[in-house]
Amino acid sequence: MDSFAESLTVDSLYVDPYPIYARLRREEPVAWVPALGVWLVTRLHDVRHVMSSPDSFVTSDPDAPLTKLCGPGMSILAQEGDAHAETRESVADRLAGETIPGLENVTDEIATAELATLSRRDSVDLMSEYFQPVCGAAMARTLGLGAVPESTLRGWSSAFTDALQNPSGDPGRNTAAAAASREMDATLGPVLAELREHPDGSFLSALLHAGRPVGDPRDAETVLPTVKMMISAFKEPGWLAGNLTYALACHPGQLAQVRVDRELLNAAVHEAMRWLAPVGLVGRKTTRESTLDGVRLPPGVMVAPCLASANRDEREFDDAEQFDIHRARKPYLTLGYGRHQCLASALIPVLAEVAVDRLLRDLPNLRVEPDAGELRGWKFRYLNRLRATTAPAP
Ligand code: HEM
Repeated sequence: MDSFAESLTVDSLYVDPYPIYARLRREEPVAWVPALGVWLVTRLHDVRHVMSSPDSFVTSDPDAPLTKLCGPGMSILAQEGDAHAETRESVADRLAGETIPGLENVTDEIATAELATLSRRDSVDLMSEYFQPVCGAAMARTLGLGAVPESTLRGWSSAFTDALQNPSGDPGRNTAAAAASREMDATLGPVLAELREHPDGSFLSALLHAGRPVGDPRDAETVLPTVKMMISAFKEPGWLAGNLTYALACHPGQLAQVRVDRELLNAAVHEAMRWLAPVGLVGRKTTRESTLDGVRLPPGVMVAPCLASANRDEREFDDAEQFDIHRARKPYLTLGYGRHQCLASALIPVLAEVAVDRLLRDLPNLRVEPDAGELRGWKFRYLNRLRATTAPAP
């Protein structure tokens, strides 16, 4: 008879993976899941171990779908060892805490302008009409991609993430992602070629020039996979802002507290990251045989540390399944762990916090509709839309 993990379907994970993860944590914390073709790791301690043991578990799998889409060549995420350290060191300070005042101002400016338009409307889709354009445009300006329209970046990000999480196995999504990858090459290749000749202090320019002798920048082809990988993440901050707004709407008492005391919003952002991680799992390949929680993993297999499950591990978090903005904050795994931790970690909570703060400020009558949208996904978990009304309650 099939084990619970062997009986899982992509559909059940797509609709709501959390009850599944709870059972796996209890019964099969390291489990082969045929529907995903991976060994799924669901307890926090094991997830941390996999993500911080690069001798046994690596990201550098040339056959990984994201690596193929970002290629030819390896993005920062698919690099290991010295190559990874060199790329990371060249740009880490560009997205560190010092960037935050600039990011706050940019996000504030973009959000305020969008809200001036939306405040004249009775009903809005917060995902497509507010969170995505605001977070996307703020990230684009921070990275030096402001010359590419935000809608184009969003389209590329959608094409990639739709192919990476493709519950119906639609081959059209892979075709669309491959086309987006070619468009990125065609659009960004010349931008990088220009920056090689004329550095401008931007993030993209640093990827080419930082740590290199003057006049000897990296090739555009070396840098392009990392830029494409980052563009694929462009929709994730907007998903987080949507998940936060949804979590608060589902907990009206906590929403009322946040409305009155905006200082609580920061705790709400971090609790939403934990409770509804927009990036639910990541991938590693085993380099050698290892044993995890008593389970033998052969070399050359795919392992998926499940961040969304680790974030609700009852061994670490009290009442882990509850959304509670007042809980004592503990490290969660939504932004990764170990050397590949999200490069934009410092910026992501700021984007979500500023976007939601200005929304509550400028649309004081905002009400999320009962059938606002559907929350779906296991690899990525986000709302397809988030309908809200802006008029005073009748
Ligand atoms: C809510 C938003 C986001 C979440 C939850 C998130 C989450 C993550 C996670 C879990 C990882 C680690 C992947 C792994 O270990 O396999 C990661 C890596 C990374 N993320 Fe993010 N990310 C977000 C947004 C972004 C954005 C907007 C960018 C840049 C535009 C970005 C850039 C990166 C980069 C470059 C890496 C690879 C770092 C490395 O390999 O050293 N992320 N992210």
